Amino acid sequence: MKVIVTKDYDSMSREAAAIVRKEIEKKRDIVLGLATGSTPIGMYNELIRMHKEEGLDFSSVVSFNLDEYVGIDYNDPNSYHYYMNVNLFDYINIDKNNVHIPDGNSKNIEESCRVYDKLIDEKGGIDLQILGIGANGHIGFNEPEEELNVGTSIVNLTPRTIKDNSRFFKSIDDVPTKAITMGIGTIMKAKKIILLASGKNKSEAIKKLVEGKKITTKLPASVLLLHPDVTVIVDEEAYGINK
Ligand code: F6R
Repeated sequence: MKVIVTKDYDSMSREAAAIVRKEIEKKRDIVLGLATGSTPIGMYNELIRMHKEEGLDFSSVVSFNLDEYVGIDYNDPNSYHYYMNVNLFDYINIDKNNVHIPDGNSKNIEESCRVYDKLIDEKGGIDLQILGIGANGHIGFNEPEEELNVGTSIVNLTPRTIKDNSRFFKSIDDVPTKAITMGIGTIMKAKKIILLASGKNKSEAIKKLVEGKKITTKLPASVLLLHPDVTVIVDEEAYGINK
């Protein structure tokens, strides 16, 4: 696992965007795994800038998002469908037919999860997966539990994640309690992974991860220690450097 410590959030975002750019330029029809949340917004802004000012071309890029809430309207600003449009897709030349996000409103969620994994395989697998990390060490919405799902699945969000994510909602009661997430196996099949973290509240999880001593379902991100090509990009605060 390679660890890059950057001065602040903006330099973390630029560092990550530079890697994404390099990979797109190497393979125009790259399959990207994308994350939502606060962390990748700066990286998405930088990719939008690269598209507008430097012609970075997304026309052949294929994407699969990590997760989506269950039972949320896709026009709801808190849905990840909405998030991806307003934070990235609406400002680059990606073909929306090449964009995939788990269907939290499917009538048959189990089946739609199976189809999602199959589609990823059919597209040749994820070339570059972007991850954030929960303060509790979750990746996607694979929460610390006794067992972790291998494939894309419906999961219950933990009280901590519901509380962390309530900052985006009117009240904590409005936060969905279930989500669909790529499974740990789906994520681990990605050829290359970058994990981003910013801010003090991530430092505990990042410390355990970069110490690299133990793999445990109590820290789902620790499975990444088994992956051959992971780059963790963290700002000083997330790395535990107090300013
Ligand atoms: C989002 C996702 C989550 C977030 C994590 C951190 O698609 O899969 O694992 O990456 O909850 O969220 P932020 O970036 O809001 O701190």
